[in-house]
Amino acid sequence: MAKITYVEHSGTEHVVEVANGLTVMEGARDNNIPGIEADCGGACACSTCHVYVDPAWTEKLTPMDDMEEDMLDFAFEPDPARSRLTCQIKVTDALDGLRVQMPEKQI
Ligand code: FES
Repeated sequence: MAKITYVEHSGTEHVVEVANGLTVMEGARDNNIPGIEADCGGACACSTCHVYVDPAWTEKLTPMDDMEEDMLDFAFEPDPARSRLTCQIKVTDALDGLRVQMPEKQI
């Protein structure tokens, strides 16, 4: 279980507990948090679950694979240092306190 803070582009924060084994995308979806659309349902095929990870957390996440990296090219204004696809980040206790910010829009 991890407490995750999702920050909308407007600055509105949503703090929710997400169970281990779910993805960060599923945590947003299950709690009706706006700003993460996840059109492909988590198949790493759409880039609409894009977020900017808080700089304090970028090094603590499991590194992205080639598929995620390629798909991020299609996201809205990706930041090479902070962008991730939330459907590719599995929640564990180690993610307790994670903070992610949604982009202005999802493509
Ligand atoms: S939900 Fe489509 S890439 Fe993450």
